[in-house]
Amino acid sequence: VPFLRILGIETSCDETAAAVVERDAEGHSNVLSDVVLSQLDEHSAYGGVVPEIAARAHVEALDELIEEALARANVSLDDVDAIAATSGPGLIGGLLVGLMTGKAIARAAGKPLYAINHLEGHALTARLTDGLSFPYLMLLVSGGHTQLILVRGVGQYERWGTTIDDALGEAFDKTAKLLGLPYPGGPAVERMARDGNPARFDFPRPLVGEARLDFSFSGLKTAVRQAAQDIAPLSDQDVADICASFQKAVSRTLKDRIGRGLQRFKTEFPATGEKPALVVAGGVAANLELRGTLQALCDKNGFRFVAPPLRLCTDNAVMIAWAGLERMATGAAPDALDVQPRSRW
Ligand code: KG4
Ligand code: ZN
Repeated sequence: VPFLRILGIETSCDETAAAVVERDAEGHSNVLSDVVLSQLDEHSAYGGVVPEIAARAHVEALDELIEEALARANVSLDDVDAIAATSGPGLIGGLLVGLMTGKAIARAAGKPLYAINHLEGHALTARLTDGLSFPYLMLLVSGGHTQLILVRGVGQYERWGTTIDDALGEAFDKTAKLLGLPYPGGPAVERMARDGNPARFDFPRPLVGEARLDFSFSGLKTAVRQAAQDIAPLSDQDVADICASFQKAVSRTLKDRIGRGLQRFKTEFPATGEKPALVVAGGVAANLELRGTLQALCDKNGFRFVAPPLRLCTDNAVMIAWAGLERMATGAAPDALDVQPRSRW
């Protein structure tokens, strides 16, 4: 295994991030620096990410953030072997900022460039944090994505399920907005749910029972709106009860959908000795009730439940640097400098 050290850049949504990750000849990995600047304050007044504001904020922050990541890692550009930058999917303005910066640095410093799929970054993180070996299942639940992915190997991913409407984080955010709770909605809904009665409302659990592994959350949001309208004006207890019932419906939905995914995995990969693993990533993975549900589901099905530290579950540049490192380690050719960002990928 060659010694590798990579500078990673992430700008696909509302986090500007840079990081340096290395792996030594024995295969030990080290996160040398991990700098993340959240734009939350700039977007919260709008109740969601505003693409134009995001792109401008990336432009303003990225160069200094990269300098900081190098300084904290105590290395210079000469000491890195390659640049890895997110090239999609995401907001095109932000992607352009990060990828162009990555290209410029690669060109000026004479280093190879790896254009990284953001989802690949999430998918491979568990190999950095938990040393997982292939294959494993990954559930990505964030503000922009809800996907169940089979990770076969570096560059080998199969999407087993995805949302046919809202992402799960989006459903949390919209529910919070309907109830007058602050953005981002996930943490607010989870907090309120603690004092609520989950049995008060019987919210729909779309696609539950269906063989396909997809998700759907927009009906749930509509049901929440209807319930809120029916009992308005809402007391704090009403809001708490709606949040608790919403979370229960999500929990039951995940249990059914992911449960089927685990079964399919076991069918496709009959026992090999090592316990199979389900990895969770994305901001929604912070939710303790959902984590509990997934943990119990994994226990019941003989799976190992792997939840990387939250900082590496949400958007960051460590995962981008790591994905670049993994690609480089397989001997994959770097990307040409005319590689284009892709908002959908
Ligand atoms: O991965 P992430 O930080 O980045 C983006 O998708 O941009 O995910 C953010 C999402 C938001 O929708 C937020 O409401 C949700 O994750 N989230 C949560 C919790 N914390 C954050 N959802 C449910 N429960 C939480 N505790
Ligand atoms: Zn993400």
